[in-house]
Amino acid sequence: MKNVLVTGGAGFIGSNFVRFLLEKNQHVRIINLDALTYAGSLLNLAGVLDSARHIFVEANICDKDVIPNVLKKYDVDTIAHFAAETHVDRSILEPDPFFQTNVLGTLNLLESAKEFWAQKKMQGRFHHISTDEVYGSLAENELAFTESSTYFPRSPYSASKAASDHLVRAYFHTYNIHVTLTNCSNNYGAYQFVEKLIPFTILNALQGNSLPIYGDGKQIRDWLYVQDHCEAIYNVLERGSVGETYNIAGNNQICNLDLVQMICAMLDEFQPAQSSYASLITHVSDRFGHDRRYALDTTKIYNQLGWSPKYNIEAGLRETVQWYLQNPDWMQAAFSKMQSENWLEKNYQHRG
Ligand code: NAD
Ligand code: TYD
Repeated sequence: MKNVLVTGGAGFIGSNFVRFLLEKNQHVRIINLDALTYAGSLLNLAGVLDSARHIFVEANICDKDVIPNVLKKYDVDTIAHFAAETHVDRSILEPDPFFQTNVLGTLNLLESAKEFWAQKKMQGRFHHISTDEVYGSLAENELAFTESSTYFPRSPYSASKAASDHLVRAYFHTYNIHVTLTNCSNNYGAYQFVEKLIPFTILNALQGNSLPIYGDGKQIRDWLYVQDHCEAIYNVLERGSVGETYNIAGNNQICNLDLVQMICAMLDEFQPAQSSYASLITHVSDRFGHDRRYALDTTKIYNQLGWSPKYNIEAGLRETVQWYLQNPDWMQAAFSKMQSENWLEKNYQHRG
């Protein structure tokens, strides 16, 4: 690992990973390629943009001219592929960009890497970051998904990620590209775009707005603190076996309603208002095809690489809530972006 291309490194997890990698490994140079869509921002890279070991390239992973040139120019030996369209609600409203970026963009990266590494007569590493959502939805009493569970994606987002996973594996089996994959559960932490549940709840609570909960709020997610996720990916890059997939999760299963109540209790403690923030919780109509529960079995990454999460939800959430409270300028910029896209009208007006 010397010249690492990180795609989507101006997004939530990607920017956390860039910071993590620069600190963890003093010998790598990062080429951070990001199209700066609504979800990406240079504000997420505060403090690393001026590092001599970090080069930012504003580009689209679908671009068939730029990607081969970037691989060549920076002599890329490792790719950590985060770039994607990621919001399920957006995928329900407009699926097309999900298939452009997540499927065709991934194909372009794989093809460009295959050609470049063949010319150089070298074996690079292609690491693909994916989601637990490819496995589908679980009932409350069902066993967590393992790496060999059948794929059963149920939203346009998860269908596009499932397709990209299949492509990555196909490039391993067909062309012997050295790939690894990780499928992770819902992440949370600093720099997550404000449309997603946790920052959205914090933002609305601070503004005194209602806190929308889809349906009965009993949908369960397994929340993974982003720092734990970065460490897991690093372990896989360093010691993961080629061709293998590893599940990564926080082992913190909690339903949306309980999670939002936890955030409200923390805000009550850190920044008390006249009444508890929990009084703002409002049930709204449900997401179409809303997956009931995700849960991952992480035995494989623990047994093979010794990784397990360090943060429980209480500890990770406290750090997260405090980070958003301490970064009002970042929050304001993200809020303005969300407003300029009319996201609240598009996603919430029809929910009642
Ligand atoms: P994000 O939406 O916060 O960031 C995505 C980044 O990709 C943005 O910076 C955006 O500008 C960039 N991007 C989008 N399309 C691009 C394109 N065509 N070319 C170049 N850049 C492009 O996403 P995230 O939450 O950081 O997720 C990162 C990865 O992790 C994704 O692959 C996602 O599927 C996966 N994942 C995320 C979660 C989660 O809870 N956030 C859970 C499981 C898996
Ligand atoms: P989200 O952050 O969009 O992640 P994902 O859909 O990938 O799991 O949403 C997390 C959960 O929170 C999901 O079950 C949908 C729910 N949710 C709400 O109840 N209200 C909201 O306003 C949002 C954005 C999400």
